[in-house]
Amino acid sequence: MKPWTKRVVWALAVMALFSTLAPARQREPNSVYAERRAQLAAAVDGPVVLFGYTGNEDSSPSYVFAQEHNFYYLTGHNEEGAVLLLLPGRHNGGSPPAGPREFLYLPQRTDNFTRRERWDGPRLAAGDAGATEKLGVAMTAPFPELKAKVEELAKSYTNFYTLLPGQNERGYPHAANWLKWLKEAAPGANFREVRPLIAKLRMVKSPGELELITRATELSMDAHLEAWRMIRPGVWEYEVAARMRYIYQRGGCERDAYAPIVGTGFNSTVLHYNKVDAQIQDGDLVLMDVGCEFSGYATDITRTVPASGKFTPRQREIYEIVLAAADAAIAAVKPGARMAGQGEGTLTRIAQGVINSRGKDKQGNSLGRYFIHGLGHHIGLNVHDATEPGRALEPGMVFTIEPGIYIPEEKLGVRVEDMILVTETGAKVLTARLPRTPDEIEKFMAEARKAGGRR
Ligand code: GLY
Ligand code: MN
Ligand code: MN
Repeated sequence: MKPWTKRVVWALAVMALFSTLAPARQREPNSVYAERRAQLAAAVDGPVVLFGYTGNEDSSPSYVFAQEHNFYYLTGHNEEGAVLLLLPGRHNGGSPPAGPREFLYLPQRTDNFTRRERWDGPRLAAGDAGATEKLGVAMTAPFPELKAKVEELAKSYTNFYTLLPGQNERGYPHAANWLKWLKEAAPGANFREVRPLIAKLRMVKSPGELELITRATELSMDAHLEAWRMIRPGVWEYEVAARMRYIYQRGGCERDAYAPIVGTGFNSTVLHYNKVDAQIQDGDLVLMDVGCEFSGYATDITRTVPASGKFTPRQREIYEIVLAAADAAIAAVKPGARMAGQGEGTLTRIAQGVINSRGKDKQGNSLGRYFIHGLGHHIGLNVHDATEPGRALEPGMVFTIEPGIYIPEEKLGVRVEDMILVTETGAKVLTARLPRTPDEIEKFMAEARKAGGRR
């Protein structure tokens, strides 16, 4: 076995063991975050200033704090109000001066901070015993000292790397707020976008990340199987969604990776259908696109099953075309292959070719017009994870393959979405244990009914 494959096999074996033993929320070892910071520092010619979330980003009562993903990727620190400062590996073309090259700025332990802990639970503050060792950084310091440090660095460096606001910034303006703060501290500096440099690293998963993605995937597959046990005409979409959430949250998933999609009949054709308030009808297909996050890492899985337990001939025909498109794309996965872009050999073109060459709609048109979204996306801390556009596949990348055909006038939508790990030689389908073919699905549903199903 190649060393990389060995590492993954080992990691997955350990995962199987620790999934029953370990506490729910896990971090990778400090050395992993330190290595990521070193790689980023080696790629820049000026300081990186990366602001974690403050906890004020969302005021809804159901909000649970979850860290800014780039900050989490580099620190594993899931608490409010921290800032990472990295000094570049290169220093005026030579070796950098002695002294710490990375700093984690933490909130100060003020009276207000201590009062907040009575509401929100214990938090790490600058100066707390063992904080630096616990976080595995060279140095921790109180947040109010950051400004003077940036002012001082602005005398030696022109370029600073941070999160820049852009069209990706929706909702609370985290990047815009902190860029304003930085510009006040370093008015003459050039501020450069750090996201692509971190995306480059995030695209290839560590063994620890693979463990967590696998854990999320295993629990979400359990949730899908449980849904199939209860699906029958008369059951409500929200009952199915609730049962699925129960299964993965009981297993330690801390939240949905995205709002569960459980769509019956026409709703199966609505890509991001999340109202889940309809009653399943006899003869419908039920599309379930449901997945959780485990210790910050997402999974994303779709299956489509018949409400009655039996596909109609038309449903089976469309389903088999989608499945053939998925299988053809999965068969083409290997290092060097491309998801999308120019050329005939991309995974997207392969899937589109299958869908366009088989079957017709009621007017005799080919079915490509009903495949209206991308073939898939990288996945990790985010369900639609950080991606360098156009980069070829490499071992350790994880992404979805999710072709679909949605024909609203037939109230018929089918998507099959699998989680794919790129290996040295091809693909490992992380969702392989979840039945995919119509025969397998019918068999599972028939056996579940025989056993009494679920309510
Ligand atoms: N569940 C969102 C997606 O499939 O991309
Ligand atoms: Mn997806
Ligand atoms: Mn999905």
